[in-house]
Amino acid sequence: MPTILGIETSCDETACAVYDGDRGLLAHRLHSQVDLHARYGGVVPELASRDHVARVAPLLRETLAAAGIGFGDLDGVAYTAGPGLIGALMVGAAVGAGIATAHGLPLIPVHHMEGHLLAPMLESPAPQFPFTALLVSGGHTLLIAVEGVGRYTLLGESLDDAVGEAFDKTAKLLGLPYPGGPHLARLAERGQPGVFKFPRPMTDRPGLDFSFSGLKTAVLVAMPRARDDVGRADLARGFEEAVTDTLTIKCERALAQTGHRTLIVAGGVGANLRLRAKLRARCEQLGISLFFPRAEFCTDNAAMIACAGWIRHREGRPPDGPLFTTPRWPLSTLAPPPQG
Ligand code: KG4
Ligand code: ZN
Repeated sequence: MPTILGIETSCDETACAVYDGDRGLLAHRLHSQVDLHARYGGVVPELASRDHVARVAPLLRETLAAAGIGFGDLDGVAYTAGPGLIGALMVGAAVGAGIATAHGLPLIPVHHMEGHLLAPMLESPAPQFPFTALLVSGGHTLLIAVEGVGRYTLLGESLDDAVGEAFDKTAKLLGLPYPGGPHLARLAERGQPGVFKFPRPMTDRPGLDFSFSGLKTAVLVAMPRARDDVGRADLARGFEEAVTDTLTIKCERALAQTGHRTLIVAGGVGANLRLRAKLRARCEQLGISLFFPRAEFCTDNAAMIACAGWIRHREGRPPDGPLFTTPRWPLSTLAPPPQG
């Protein structure tokens, strides 16, 4: 107890999950819209909203059935309130509000990036506060000092493209389908490191901010040298090495600054195997404990929303307020939960 339903509709995944305080994650279901958007080379917001409307009710029924519970067994409903595509967010918010109102349950708005940030709590062992977090997704590249729930200090962020965006844009240049990150990673596995040398942006000066747009330009300039499949694989490998080195260097620097002995990595790019391997090796050398969610909980999902909703609910019922969604919402503006 308590048992919390989570609904995620911030972008191109419709997802539902049930998290129980005693038994952990009871069920999670996800419908990806990748096929719907693939031919446009990116997410079409209006199509995303319409598909969420079509998918969410059946997915919800399936999730509750898999969890073996009914609406009457729930103690709260968590939904992703932002950041994200506003039309898409509104679908999950309206469905969540409907269930909460009909069953007299608290409605818990969840920050999507707080969902990512707390996703390692779904695993066993779970990390203990305080820790330093690297959040790497399609829209965000953040280094955060985490002292507890809602106690987040921004240490560094991308000044331009998010790292997932850099993966996706580079993949597009290589002619790979959307979303390019996982496709690029697969291509890079066949490539040789060192054939294409790309910069490790902003690692030659102090600070914890990132910049990935120059890397994209470097890839564009190098593209004519990638004449065949072997060349394209080498280029993908060079890009992935540059990005993962950059992230690893900045994580080490952030840990030195915070003094934390624990690092967590989450968000879609956290599924990248080379990044995971590099961080694991470096953290081992430094004696740092490293935590990742499993790959399917790195990319968007509702398990992280149900879990973050449960943590917020446990720490104090959120004040009743008007239903809200917001496309922009800096993580560092979140407050710790009220006590009691
Ligand atoms: O967290 P997420 O699912 O959605 C957002 O909140 O943005 O992250 C999606 C991003 C995309 O840019 C995708 O290409 C990237 O994560 N991604 C990867 C991998 N899997 C997903 N990038 C590199 N390697 C991967 N294995
Ligand atoms: Zn996300």
